[in-house]
Amino acid sequence: MSKQKTILRVLAGETLPVPPIWMMRQAGRYLPEYRATRARAGDFLSLCYNPELATEVTLQPIRRYGFDAAILFADILLLPQALGADLWFVTGEGPRLSTITTPDELAALKPAGDVHEHLSPIYETVRTLARELPDETTLIGFAGAPWTVATYMIAGRGTPDQGPAHALMQADKATFEGLLDLITKSTIEYLSAQIEAGAEVVKLFDSWAGSLKGDAFDRYALAPAREIITALKARHPETPIIAFPREAGDRYIGFAQATGADCVALDNSVSAKWAAENVQIDGPVQGNLASSHMVTGGQKLIDETRAIVDAFSGGPHIFNLGHGITPDADPENVTLMVETVRAGRQG
Ligand code: CP3
Repeated sequence: MSKQKTILRVLAGETLPVPPIWMMRQAGRYLPEYRATRARAGDFLSLCYNPELATEVTLQPIRRYGFDAAILFADILLLPQALGADLWFVTGEGPRLSTITTPDELAALKPAGDVHEHLSPIYETVRTLARELPDETTLIGFAGAPWTVATYMIAGRGTPDQGPAHALMQADKATFEGLLDLITKSTIEYLSAQIEAGAEVVKLFDSWAGSLKGDAFDRYALAPAREIITALKARHPETPIIAFPREAGDRYIGFAQATGADCVALDNSVSAKWAAENVQIDGPVQGNLASSHMVTGGQKLIDETRAIVDAFSGGPHIFNLGHGITPDADPENVTLMVETVRAGRQG
């Protein structure tokens, strides 16, 4: 029965005539109904930790657009908070965290197995969503990949070049690798618990993978993803896993095989034609329309959407953006994208 869900069919390797579609950050500030619910919650973190309201915002884009997947409403930075870091969001600027740059600060964090109590409202949201979603909609859970989460924990905020994390990697490799290991182990616990609560697919977001080159990419992007995926497959062999090593470029090639991921999500810095030839030949891919089209719309949106559907039509493909939709997007452009994908392949 659940195998009838289009997303699960594609993740099992099926090529569908029309790709299923969902969108990164589909529950977000571009939607007036999201802004209203966030105002009811008070602030973003209160929304994440309120199972009733987090369920509501997860369902909003499903009601509006009929997407084939719903992604749990939460954030990759809730895990550092569960490990004992302070976390807050500055309106208009983004996240702030207490920093981890010394052996003592690392040692003061909680052990990987102790994150569940703090994260229990998130598991409650997953359980509620598993009951409330339409039968055809796949529920996706997620976590940040260790490198990306570490970049925020080390710098205490988002950074354009992940400089502080690269600096710690050089200056104190033991602390850097100890932090990565703690995030890796706790992410296994966190994603396992999401699966046990009802997540049917999980996705690992490595938003800053592109700043790791060569050997550093192998050690800090690929190896932690492989460790997490291997552990999850041992516990939950039926649950498909999507890996998103954003801006990995050439390193998208072979990433799924090397890590055990069932699908690789592609950002829009690689062309769909290149990705079909070099990445999709090995298995399912997701992506990769530039999210700027959700702001600009028009014929260019239609043409580019069709070109991506076309380029990936020879293999398993889940349509998505190359990165999250931005707050200045027009909800009508999302409708146009969904209609264009569902109108079927052109030419
Ligand atoms: O995709 C979804 O709809 C599910 C929910 C989700 C959020 N964040 C909600 C959110 C997911 C999967 C994330 C992942 C996430 N969070 C990533 C990885 C993906 C990516 O975008 O690269 C990262 C790096 C974060 C950390 C984070 N959270 C930042 C840097 C920010 C501030 C930037 C911004 O967009 O404001 C957030 C806030 C955040 N997470 C918002 C949402 C809807 C906006 C908060 C608000 O409502 O004010």
